[in-house]
Amino acid sequence: MGYAHEYADAIMHRGRVPMDPADYVPNWQDGPRKAKFYPGADSFPLPDAPYPADATLDRGLCAEGAPEEGEFDLVTLSGMLRDSYGLTGRRLGVQANTDLSALPFYPLANWSRGSASGGGLYPVAVHWVSGPSGPVPPGVHYYSTRHHTMQRLLTGDVTGRVRAALGEGAPGPETDQYLVLSIKYWQNAFKYNSFSFHAVSMDLGACVQTWRMWAAARGLAVEPALWFDEARLAELLGVDPEEEGIFAVVPLKWAGYHGSSGQGCAASVSVRRKDAERSRTVLAFDALLRMQAATSADATARPAPGALAPAAAHPADPAAEEVGLPPARPLETDVRTALRDRRSSFGRFEARLPVTRPQLAACLAAAVAGSRLGGDTGDVRLAKLYAFVSHVEGVAPGSYAYDPERRSLRRVKEGRPGEFLQRNYFLANYNLEQAGAVLVPTVRTTAVLDAVGDRGYRLVNATVGAVAQSLYTAASAVDLGCGVALGFDNISYIEELGLDGTGEAPLLIMMIGNERPAPADFRYEIA
Ligand SMILES: Cc1cc2nc3c(=O)[nH]c(=O)nc-3n(C[C@H](O)[C@H](O)[C@H](O)COP(=O)(O)O)c2cc1C
Repeated sequence: MGYAHEYADAIMHRGRVPMDPADYVPNWQDGPRKAKFYPGADSFPLPDAPYPADATLDRGLCAEGAPEEGEFDLVTLSGMLRDSYGLTGRRLGVQANTDLSALPFYPLANWSRGSASGGGLYPVAVHWVSGPSGPVPPGVHYYSTRHHTMQRLLTGDVTGRVRAALGEGAPGPETDQYLVLSIKYWQNAFKYNSFSFHAVSMDLGACVQTWRMWAAARGLAVEPALWFDEARLAELLGVDPEEEGIFAVVPLKWAGYHGSSGQGCAASVSVRRKDAERSRTVLAFDALLRMQAATSADATARPAPGALAPAAAHPADPAAEEVGLPPARPLETDVRTALRDRRSSFGRFEARLPVTRPQLAACLAAAVAGSRLGGDTGDVRLAKLYAFVSHVEGVAPGSYAYDPERRSLRRVKEGRPGEFLQRNYFLANYNLEQAGAVLVPTVRTTAVLDAVGDRGYRLVNATVGAVAQSLYTAASAVDLGCGVALGFDNISYIEELGLDGTGEAPLLIMMIGNERPAPADFRYEIA
């Protein structure tokens, strides 16, 4: 049994048994940047990218049908990056977070992005490894979120290295254009220390799922590989494999690609530029080091098709009382608009206006549809959804399991859940009772780890991140507020939902609801 089991158990119990270092206080003055910094690297701006109004979120979430056949080019790549991790505006609305008083100060500005991210730290670094069919000389680029530019880190065609690292049976099209996603842990760990791995692996899923929705809505495919030779890619990017994990590779079907020349490139070629760390003191955390070691050890052992079947989400209990839902409200907003309008509610929920059942049905269906990451992660649905209903028109307060086959609810427990929810929330920035409903994704973490090994932890959390991002985007499209949170006592949720014997781990709480009308805000769009 690998270390990931131990870590998963410690994460679940951390509300009762604090994880080391329990007395950690971040040194805010000496924090890292929210991006990597390559002084002196040449960069070029990415083009403006239109987005069609008929690229609706319903299309973006519709997983059925033939694989998407569209081809990326620089314009679509630019649009997808801008709408996920690129900066789109400045957050200045009044909310209940403790950073509120800092927001008006420019150096401390909080920039909005299409993807959500734990603590707003955005630790996913996107590298574009491009070959000869690209519009610029082949090389390795770093996507600078601040400038919406590509920074050139290496010149030359090294796509053969990525292809070799992906190995046989990798998902996605034949191509010479790849996005390589890494996570530099310190960018998050300076705040969350040992907990960091848990949060950043969800961020990865939130980012990839933004791409999947954005792309699918316009006939493009994003099929990530989570299994590949991580050490070789770390070497190619010139990063320390202890400090930075390579989490995903997305091969892009590219316009004008006519097959690769096939020649390999010298194994020793790698990025020489070094990211300049802002923090003078960078700390290492034992749990984080061990999780990076455990989840990268067998990185090439891509699971066989069907390997995850034993870890599939349990079906809804057919014996439990069924509570029907009407058809979901259509998600007709285009994905870009839904992402631009998305934000966390942070204390702005107000229950006076209840959520409607079609809104709830849309959110539940979107969260489930968004739980599959594609690529080499298999067809098996890993996440199961529960809903604590407080204020939904026509649905009695209580807890329910979502039945995705029948698109209905199955009653778990009657009674108003508000007191339970608030008692088990660690922070003061939400009144969970005022949300219309709190949705909770569960994954059988232990079963996933048993099925595919420790790297499966990244898949578990990427799945939850993808669910969260799908819900955020769907809530935006049906005019509801949304917020998600990791700061709750997982064990209490196991007890409350009766999951003791099922192996299901409640991994996130996701609130949807109406907000107080006319909140104080200041418009500051930059994209
Ligand atoms: C995996 C994940 C975990 C999060 N955990 C929390 C949390 O515990 N509490 C909270 O208030 N917000 C949480 N958030 C929301 C982020 O703080 C939020 O997405 C980020 O600050 C950016 O703000 P925005 O969503 O308004 O764009 C989480 C988001 C993600 C994706």
